Amino acid sequence: MAAVRVWGVTEPGYFVSFEGGDGSGKTTQARLLGDWLGQTLGRDVVVTREPGGTFLGLELRRLVLHSEDMDPRTEALLYAADRAHHVASLIRPALDRGAVVITDRYLDSSVAYQAGGRELGEDEVERLSLWATHGLPPDVTILLDVDLATSAARMPADLDRLERVDESFRQRTRDAYLRRAAADPGRWVVIDAAGTIDDVQARIRAALTGRLPAPARPEGERP
Ligand SMILES: Nc1ncnc2c1ncn2[C@@H]1O[C@H](COP(=O)(O)OP(=O)(O)OP(=O)(O)O)[C@@H](O)[C@H]1O
Ligand SMILES: [Mg+2]
Repeated sequence: MAAVRVWGVTEPGYFVSFEGGDGSGKTTQARLLGDWLGQTLGRDVVVTREPGGTFLGLELRRLVLHSEDMDPRTEALLYAADRAHHVASLIRPALDRGAVVITDRYLDSSVAYQAGGRELGEDEVERLSLWATHGLPPDVTILLDVDLATSAARMPADLDRLERVDESFRQRTRDAYLRRAAADPGRWVVIDAAGTIDDVQARIRAALTGRLPAPARPEGERP
């Protein structure tokens, strides 16, 4: 069994998750942050996503997003299976070798979207994710918060199954994210995601100042 990662004492990796509603800019900002952290920290950076960060995960993503309607428990278990495999096969090994891992969505997506109106309780969805990941929390979670009209204007016309949801659902999801962030300010950073791509990236970098790990030591240098 993999060791449980404990706040503040786990070295040497650094684990960042991006959260937020559809069209808030997660994929765009995760990539830009990855480039910057690679340069700033001199570490290996892995940018990945959920669902679908692995080969098996791609199959699960296809089933969740593009197949028939499914029971909420089936859906929750498919997301949990994707997350379990993602952590075990990609995220934890990368952290163990000292990489920065940036994931575009993680367990808070399951909990926040659950709060938006599907049938299961937020607590049970969170417990399922913690079980699936051996309790692996991100070092920092970046919430890209933006009003619904702005994010809707950024979304493509051909929406997938989960994106074809009504505005009140999206509002409840946004509220759930903000509630979770307020309850755990040690882990969450809330970023105003309105404005240009560069504006948002600058806010993210500023907010991470003081939270980043030390740069990698040059090869051969003693600790
Ligand atoms: N600050 C911004 N201003 C204008 N357009 C943006 C901004 N950020 C991202 N975009 C554009 O909006 C679209 C959605 O952005 P992106 O894919 O990064 O969002 P996302 O949060 O990953 O969405 P999803 O949840 O659907 O994957 C993209 O076409 C992207 O280029
Ligand atoms: Mg995206």
